[in-house]
Amino acid sequence: MTGKELKNYWNPYLYDQSHSFVSEYGKSLIEFLNPKEGERILDLGCGTGDLTMKLAELGATVIGIDQSENMILQAQNKYPDIKFDIQDATDLQFEDMFDGVFSNATLHWVKPPKKALECIYTGLKTGGRFVAEFGGKGNVQTITSEIIKEIKKENIEFSYSNFPWYYPSIGDYTTLMESVGFRVTFAQHYDRPTPLDGEEGLKNWIRMFGNQLFEGINERQKEEIISRVEASLKPVLFDGEKWLADYKRIRVIGIKE
Ligand code: BEZ
Repeated sequence: MTGKELKNYWNPYLYDQSHSFVSEYGKSLIEFLNPKEGERILDLGCGTGDLTMKLAELGATVIGIDQSENMILQAQNKYPDIKFDIQDATDLQFEDMFDGVFSNATLHWVKPPKKALECIYTGLKTGGRFVAEFGGKGNVQTITSEIIKEIKKENIEFSYSNFPWYYPSIGDYTTLMESVGFRVTFAQHYDRPTPLDGEEGLKNWIRMFGNQLFEGINERQKEEIISRVEASLKPVLFDGEKWLADYKRIRVIGIKE
């Protein structure tokens, strides 16, 4: 699936119901941004707008953008006083506009990453800051490796062009940031085991986020593979009460100089 096809792919209702942890975790990232009254902030990859709203509540003049039209429509319905727009992170329409660019749980979906960083850099005012968190090297690897293993066991060829994510090491990403002009003032790569809602948590996570891995595989086979992945990973990722996904996050702060 290309970036364009991803556009209307997300189900905003399912996202709000079962994956609200995405914005819950993002609240602590807002502390890193520390927006001041009246500052202009871009929320890049705003989803259904919950963190955009939090930024606005702190007094920032904020605009939320997302590539998904479905997500933006839902954000506009929920928060009609906030400005939202459909834009692609690799083709942002802003220049010298923002005191801060904030991005939570988005940049691992964005390729090529350097293009996105160039757009972010261009959109910031000189002295502005870029604060982001997303999946880093090894993110959800236990889950994705098991899915790929089960696909291959079915004698289905797995093409790595169907791997939708970019999970850089901290060295790779900060080097990329520096190459577009950022001074990197903070970088962290940390484990964040992430609880998934309910007994069906792992299956629902795979259905919500992992669809692209199953490109060309019919629904019946896909569900069989998901069931086998669940069975193999139960001893590893289920603690008796809940599923814990092996998230590994990167957090960065860069200044436009
Ligand atoms: C993440 O936030 O790390 C993530 C979310 C969905 C799929 C893959 C990674």
